[in-house]
Order: sequence, then C-alpha cells, then structure tokens
Amino acid sequence: MKRPAFQVAPRVAKCPRSGIREIFTLANARAAGGETVYKLMIGVPDAKTPDTVINGTIAALKEQKTQYTANAGITELREAIARQVNSAHGLSVAADQVIVVPGAMAGLLFANFTIEPGSRILVPTPGYPNYKMQAGLTGLELLHYRLGIENGFQPDLDELDELLGSAGAPIGAILINSPGNPTGTVFNEDTITGIARLAEKHGVRIISDEVYKDIILDDELEHISPAKYAPDHTLLVGALSKKYSMTGMRVGFLIVPEHAIKDAEGIGEATVSCAPSICQWGGVAALEGDQSQVDGYDMQYRQRRDAIVSILAKAGLTFTRPNGAFYLMVDIGDAGLSSRDFALQLLHEKGVGVAFGSDFGPSDPQHPLYAACDRLIRIAFCSGSMDELRGGTARLCEFYRERCAPTAS
Ligand SMILES: Cc1ncc(COP(=O)(O)O)c(C=O)c1O
Repeated sequence: MKRPAFQVAPRVAKCPRSGIREIFTLANARAAGGETVYKLMIGVPDAKTPDTVINGTIAALKEQKTQYTANAGITELREAIARQVNSAHGLSVAADQVIVVPGAMAGLLFANFTIEPGSRILVPTPGYPNYKMQAGLTGLELLHYRLGIENGFQPDLDELDELLGSAGAPIGAILINSPGNPTGTVFNEDTITGIARLAEKHGVRIISDEVYKDIILDDELEHISPAKYAPDHTLLVGALSKKYSMTGMRVGFLIVPEHAIKDAEGIGEATVSCAPSICQWGGVAALEGDQSQVDGYDMQYRQRRDAIVSILAKAGLTFTRPNGAFYLMVDIGDAGLSSRDFALQLLHEKGVGVAFGSDFGPSDPQHPLYAACDRLIRIAFCSGSMDELRGGTARLCEFYRERCAPTAS
C-alpha cells in the first residue's frame, strides 16, 4: 500500500471543527431541496455593507491602492481606530498601538503567538469554538472557565482567581469576550474591573475579544474594555466585520500595550504581511463616514431580539435576554436530548437550524463543564426576516414542548 507522502502534525489534525457548519450545511441542503428552512444558526449579518464602505473600497481600487501596506496597516486606519476606541470607550490608545490585521481571527491568533507554547489559556465556557481551535494550533493548553446561565453568563471572579492560581503549566492569558458569542452577554463594570485586577495580581495578559463591542442592544448599557483599567496587560482584539457587515473584507485590529508594538508588528510581517489594502481604505470610510445606515442595523437587531425574547418568554423557556451582539442561548436540557441531537431533530422535524451548545464547550464529554453547555442551544438573530425569526422561534418552542411532554400514542 502506498504510504501517505507526509503526516499532518497531530496538533493540526486534532484541531476540532465547528459544529455550526454541520447544521449550516444540512440546512442549506434542505433549502436547496425546496423545503422551508428557518436559519437561526449562523452569525453572519445579512445587512448590506454600507455604501460608504463600498465607495471607499472602490475608490481605493481605482486609485491603484492595491499593493502591500505597512505590516501594521495604513496610518489613516490606525488613527481612525484609535480615535474610535478612545472616544467610544474612554481609552487612551495611540495610533501606533493599533495593528491592523485580516479580521479578528488574525488578531486572536497574533495574541496567542505572544504566549509561550505549553502555557495554559483560560477561555470562556460556553465560548466561541475558534478559541479551542487556535489554542491547539498555537500549542496552548485550554483551561475552561464557567459562564453560568444562572448568573446571566457573567463569570464568577472567585472561580477565576482560583483557576489563575491553580497548579500546572504557567498561565499565559485569560481570554474574555464581551459582548459574548454565544451568550449575548455584556460583562458589567464589576466583572471587567475584577478581571483587570486579577490579571495584575497573577501577572497574566487579558486577550479581550471585542468584535461585538459596538453592538449593544440596551441604551443604559455601555461596552467596557479591560484596556481602560489594565492597559499594560490587555491585548484588545476588534474588527469592523460585524458592525459594518463586512465579514468577508477581513479588516480587524489588535491593540497592544506600547512594550509589545514591535513584536506584534513582527508577527504580522512573518505571517500575513498586511490586511487587504483596498479593504483597509474601506475600513477608513466605515469609521469616518456617515453612520446612519449601521445605526439602522442596530435598531433591527433590537427589534429582532425583542421579538424572539417575547416568544420564548410566553412559551416559558429558560433563556438569557441578550444585551449585546446578536445571539441568545436557550436551556433545552429538559428535552432529554443532547444539544446536537436537539439541533439535528429540530432541523429535521421543524425545519429550524440552530447552533448546539456542546460546540461552545470543552471537546471532552467527560469535562465537568461539558454537560452545562450540552443543555443549551444558540439562536442567532442577525439575518432573516422578522417572519422567519418569529416562525423559527415558535417552532423551536413547539418542538421543545413536544420533547418535554411527549403525547401518548
Ligand atoms: C466572538 C468572535 N470573535 C471573533 C470572530 C471572528 O471575527 P472576524 O470575522 O473579524 O475574524 C467572531 C466571528 O463570528 C466571533 O463571533
């Protein structure tokens, strides 16, 4: 038998894949077969990329701004990002602390690269599945910290303190994500200041994934970055992807403390060279241009959130009312199915696609936090019509009730 030409390294081969894709592919196949499918599983906004962004990008293309940029990005964009985070979130960031990267994913990866392989990284659980994937690829060991539905998915600071002091490999970072995917939770000021204090106490960096920082669904709330309280400990990851509905244009950023600027730029030079040049100009247009189109999108997210929340509440399901991003988690634990089976059967029987909770937890079913994630499913409300969202949510409630109290046949 012919031997394979090479073996992919185990850390790559073992990289977990996202379960969201599984449901997405199945849902698309059903839709292609002519069935009505309610797609509540994926976090890609269907809002149009604002005209300002399109025009700014086309102008850059016409002006032949198509070559490599500086590794850290064009000055205009670095300055615009610094201005935005300073004015919106009360930070004191200089433009040269901003490293423009191809999307938040690259920012997260760069942040991981600053950690010595073999170290541990604390990740929120439930949390964005790509944290697990990137930790494995960069040789970091995962330490999951709990976000409990009973606590509105805010972390318990005492538990964090204990984990940070636990025996084992050195801890390189605590990763936080507010507003959160999949929870929709905005960490409150006590949580953020508490985490900042813990980072200083234990001498670890905070990797703060703030990709949803500008999607806040309640007026009385504001996004708070740990960079405000522990600037020297924080690597702030952001992107224009979600707010400006430009996920494919790959414009993100990493804001680093002064002492890490050179190294972060070096990671860019060694890996991606730069973010797409014309999209960086689109990014300048996004931040500096008229905001009325995206303000309208925020209003839509609020209306969609309210519609879903009202249906779930009437049906008596347990869930958290999200105040940021465009996700919401529902407790389906009493249905007697694993979250994956729940999602698969829901799609099969009612034509509704949702993401399943175990995907957002530890890969190992024996892990103590696996079961808590496996009680949950995630609804994404960034795409689809109001009818689709209402119809899908009502069907989800119907399916849940049927599973909880099966009728005798
Ligand atoms: C929590 C979180 N972080 C990062 C990303 C990736 O963002 P980007 O498309 O800018 O790489 C996503 C995308 O869904 C996300 O949900």
